[in-house]
Amino acid sequence: MKNFSKRIPRLGTENAFSVIEKAKKFEREILKPKGKHLIYLQIGEPSFNTPSNINQATIKAIKNNKTHYTPTLGIPELRAAIAEKTKASTGVNYQKEDVLVTSGAKPIIFYTVNALIDPGDEVIIPNPGYPIYGSVTEYLGGKVVPLELKEKNNFCLDIKELEKKITRKTKLIILNSPQNPTGAVFDEKLIRDIAKIAKKNDLWILADEVYNEIIHKGRHFSIASVPGMEKRTVLLNGVSKTYAMTGYRIGWGVTKNKEMLATLERLACNDISCANAMAQYAALEALTGSQKEVVSMVKEYRKRRDLLVRLVNEIPGMKCHSPEGAFYLMVNVEKILKKLKINAEELCDRIMKEAHVLILPGTVFGSFGENFVRFSYVSSPKDIKEGVSRIKKYITSVYRD
Ligand SMILES: Cc1ncc(COP(=O)(O)O)c(C=O)c1O
Repeated sequence: MKNFSKRIPRLGTENAFSVIEKAKKFEREILKPKGKHLIYLQIGEPSFNTPSNINQATIKAIKNNKTHYTPTLGIPELRAAIAEKTKASTGVNYQKEDVLVTSGAKPIIFYTVNALIDPGDEVIIPNPGYPIYGSVTEYLGGKVVPLELKEKNNFCLDIKELEKKITRKTKLIILNSPQNPTGAVFDEKLIRDIAKIAKKNDLWILADEVYNEIIHKGRHFSIASVPGMEKRTVLLNGVSKTYAMTGYRIGWGVTKNKEMLATLERLACNDISCANAMAQYAALEALTGSQKEVVSMVKEYRKRRDLLVRLVNEIPGMKCHSPEGAFYLMVNVEKILKKLKINAEELCDRIMKEAHVLILPGTVFGSFGENFVRFSYVSSPKDIKEGVSRIKKYITSVYRD
């Protein structure tokens, strides 16, 4: 049979999904027969149910036969609601004409990199960071330029290092604040400095803001808020994280650059035709209905963060700071890795097999995650307590400070 395209081996994946498959198999085949189970502290999605007014809106949409194609750009009411919401969070006068609705926020990464990157073009990507940025860039023949987010800077980007990474071939910087996997929130000064560099070097920005409402300290500041940036920025957001709607698959891109929006639309038309119709009505209810449950979910995440941070710092050889946003915790395990002479993947594998808890190695998010493991704090306080206690017991049996 003839070969697959040369591009395919360059396409990475989100290893978090394959880790879960492996863990489920281990749980099914090894633990279940012994009456045991895994505790999942790696989850990258809200553990709350989708608020019922949103589910009801979906049912209503089906009853009203909203089950056909919509315009590629999305239903006008939802686009207007997204524009309104983005206007409120950025101060930029976004209109519905600036919005493309997609099947989850993820396609906006694929479309934006597709829109901009020719082979050899360079994309500056946070590392550790969401793995899809690099995967898509390499798939398209672009060059990934990793920018290390250092623990000593609270995992915020170092502006001097950013400047050093820029070459004639740099075209795009990808930002993600609040950040997956570190929970870092870039402050206004840092964002303004990044904007200055983008303007000076005529660069595009893809600002992934899917966690912009999950903030525990300070406030989210969007790079689109800096005057002049709205035309060189694609804002990416969606309902997955804020409204516990990951399975609905609704996200969006927002930009004041008309040519960019038309290009994203063309890519979406070739890819998905349009996002799921009834899910768009659900998203409309999410954005325009009561926001009470969002507020209470964020409050609860904050409590769980405080609990997890306190308990993890009691484990010998593990240390972490308290993240300001999202629902993830990067934990430094360098001492344990050195002592046991293993890497972070092996540590997570042992923790799964011996302590029966699932967490992710930092390397899932890039090479600069090598001394870290990532927990998430979406799980119930009961699971957080039980999971960390199991890990502590295991680590204490193999490691001493
Ligand atoms: C940083 C980041 N961006 C984008 C996404 C994709 O979100 P969606 O479910 O809307 O496709 C995720 C999901 O985990 C994420 O963590």
